[in-house]
Amino acid sequence: MSIVGIIGGSGLENPQLIENAREVTVDTPYGPPSAPLLRGRIGGREVALLARHGREHTIPPSQVNNRANLLALQEQGCTHLLASAACGSLRQDIGPGELVIPDQLIDFTRFRAVTFHDHFPPGIENARHTALADPFAAEIRKQLLMAGRHLELPLHDGGTMLTIEGPRFSTRAESRMFQLWGADLVNMTIAPEAVLAAELGLPYAVVAMVTDYDSWKEDEPPLQVPELVAVFRGNLEKLSRLLITVLPRLANPI
Ligand code: ADE
Repeated sequence: MSIVGIIGGSGLENPQLIENAREVTVDTPYGPPSAPLLRGRIGGREVALLARHGREHTIPPSQVNNRANLLALQEQGCTHLLASAACGSLRQDIGPGELVIPDQLIDFTRFRAVTFHDHFPPGIENARHTALADPFAAEIRKQLLMAGRHLELPLHDGGTMLTIEGPRFSTRAESRMFQLWGADLVNMTIAPEAVLAAELGLPYAVVAMVTDYDSWKEDEPPLQVPELVAVFRGNLEKLSRLLITVLPRLANPI
């Protein structure tokens, strides 16, 4: 029986949603993950939920122990990973409250552990390099899009997610530069999470929840955290419905 790992967690830990919920404490060679995992069933599907920023949201983006998080989910037997993430939009036609299933990634982080393969025995034949042309799993993306359309959610197919180091937001010049680079969305967590999932060979896809227009827009007041959190909370129900609908549709290992 395959298990779906859900990274993000916040708002999905509702006891009405998860049947037979039980907490599982896991340790890894990289230390403990961000929080104990919540194991149980959603929509008949066995899941392991992980709160990326900790149960009480105490871990800032640069401090998330991504390697421990990914190894903990793999150790639990997860065969698919679904991540949720708040993000800013770099496009007029993608507005706050809407969902995006990104298909590309730009890693603009600076200070994170980005690989499991930083040590290997001497010799070029032992070096490990992971192909990452398409960082998000096509089959999971397809199922998310189908489920989203079925639920008639405001959902965009594809887009390039750019991950910044944070915790600060971008300057207006940075935001415009990201637009010139072809990025559509900006957030602080998807890299290196997606990279590490690929190194473990775990199919991974993201549901991005747009909370704001980032910093490029001249006709918007500067981005404020309380408003961003309010948009996220106000739209969490869409995200939960999408994840619940897609879970039974994910077939056994891809
Ligand atoms: N998360 C939500 N909105 C964001 C933004 N504008 N930039 C980076 N991360 C975000």
